[in-house]
Amino acid sequence: MEKREELYRGKAKSVYKTDDADRLILLFRNDTSAFDGKRIEQLDRKGMVNNKFNAFIMQKLEAAGVPTQFDKLLADNEVLVKKLDMIPVECVVRNYAAGSLVKRLGVEEGMKLNPYTFELFLKDDAKGDPFINDSHVVAFGWGTAEQLVRMKELSLKVNEVLSKLFDDAGLLLVDFKLEFGVFSDGSIVLGDEFSPDGCRLWDKETRKKMDKDRFRQGLGDVIEAYEEVAQRLGVPL
Ligand code: TMP
Ligand code: ASP
Repeated sequence: MEKREELYRGKAKSVYKTDDADRLILLFRNDTSAFDGKRIEQLDRKGMVNNKFNAFIMQKLEAAGVPTQFDKLLADNEVLVKKLDMIPVECVVRNYAAGSLVKRLGVEEGMKLNPYTFELFLKDDAKGDPFINDSHVVAFGWGTAEQLVRMKELSLKVNEVLSKLFDDAGLLLVDFKLEFGVFSDGSIVLGDEFSPDGCRLWDKETRKKMDKDRFRQGLGDVIEAYEEVAQRLGVPL
């Protein structure tokens, strides 16, 4: 597989064309961003840890019947993926209150949500990733009603599979964000990445934060926490 020109440079990953029209290469960089890209720092090993973490999780999800864009790991920081036409909507599932939900509704951080909640945000840093609902997605043509049904169904399946996986490793899956795209055959496929950058994970006993909130809140030992999560799950680094 030959790496060709850069197609897109995101905040944490770069996307390259390949000699196969249906495949792309994602390069995981060490850049770590928060607050819609207003703060960016380089954290040693982050690209490698997130690439391997993501590969491990995507393979677990694929095995559980969730179609993902993962194809194969190419190098410490590179992965071969299916080329998707990304839907610019972030699907967020929450099991415990944290982050923007706490700010928006004034509820206590850590409150158990029963059942989970499912929310949509527009992927648009310049607008601050605004909170939207399914009627906006359809009205503005970001996705169809049928695609939304499938995105929600897959998000809830991911929650079921990963809540159990993290629970077995002594971690609470507090919330997470997923992005989907459309593959050349028209199917909805999970894209982007699943790593501690895009979810909240707390130690089950102590509720210590083990995810990107360590960076957002200046708690330190960010990558050390990601590595501990990886080690507890058995991710080979
Ligand atoms: P929030 O509490 O800020 O709405 O975020 C909910 C979860 O989704 C949290 O785990 C972080 C993740 N997330 C991202 O990774 N990127 C985003 O742009 C947004 C809005 C959320
Ligand atoms: N939205 C993500 C975060 O707050 C990334 C970013 O904003 O740069 O962590």
